[in-house]
Parts: sequence; C-alpha cells; structure tokens
Amino acid sequence: MRTRNILLASLLIALYGCQPEVPEKYASRAAEWQLANDTGCFMCHTTGKNLLGPAWESVAERYKNNPDAEAHLTNKIINGGSGAWISREMPGYSEKLLSTENRKILVKFILSLE
Ligand code: HEC
Repeated sequence: MRTRNILLASLLIALYGCQPEVPEKYASRAAEWQLANDTGCFMCHTTGKNLLGPAWESVAERYKNNPDAEAHLTNKIINGGSGAWISREMPGYSEKLLSTENRKILVKFILSLE
C-alpha cells in the first residue's frame, strides 16, 4: 500500500512536471491557461515566442482590428489548416476534443493577449 502511494506520488510529480507553468504575466488567467494545457495546445504554441505555431500574442496582434477574427479562429480550431502563418498544419479539434464552450473561451483568451 505504502509503495503504491509512493508510486502514485511520483507519477503525479512526473505529470505535473510536464505542465508548462503559467507565466507571471498571465497569473490571473490560470483557468484559461489550464484549459489550453489540458487540450494539448502547448505542444505547439506558447505565449511570448513562436514554437511550431505562432505565439498567441502575435495572433492577437494580427487580428485585433478584424471583425471576423472570432469566427475565423473558431473555424481554424475546428478544421485546422495551414498557410496563414507557415506551411505547417494546425490540427483540427472536433467537438469531442474541445467543446464549443471551451473553444469560445480559448479564442477569447488568445485574442485578449498583448
Ligand atoms: C500539432 C501542433 C499544433 C497544435 C497541437 C495546436 N496548434 Fe494552433 N497552430 C499550429 C500551426 C502550425 C499553426 C499555423 C497554421 C497556419 O499557418 O495557418 C497554428 C495556428 C493557430 C492559430 C492562428 C490561426 C490563424 O489562422 O491565424 C490559433 C488561434 C491557434 N493555432 C490556436 C490553437 C489552439 C487553441 C490549440 C489547442 C486547442 C492549438 N492551436 C493547437 C499548430 C498547432
């Protein structure tokens, strides 16, 4: 029993250790950060710099005066695609992977970053 607890604790530490921490700048947005992390967005994105996908502040900057931004980004997250930033593919996220409600939260979060 004791061994099992120790194993469980190590597993939790290992899992927790993989999570990118919320940058101090976005400490008040921890819930959205966690949602993006849980959905796997941070395999390819982060804030402050480009990874495989563009830095999310750059996305916010590009679409800030675009009235269709929310609709465009919502579609992009559902269908995936390439060519807006680079010739690499952003994977699509079906309703099963990311609910409409959570998709809206992430789109608003990304567009609000500075
Ligand atoms: C496997 C890597 C990968 C994952 C995982 C990923 N993205 Fe992307 N994302 C990309 C790439 C590559 C692009 C650039 C696509 C392009 O140039 O059109 C991108 C572009 C974007 C854009 C800008 C789209 C545009 O048309 O300007 C947004 C917003 C975005 N991703 C949000 C997300 C969100 C939210 C998640 C998690 C639900 C996510 N991404 C997960 C690779 C990824």
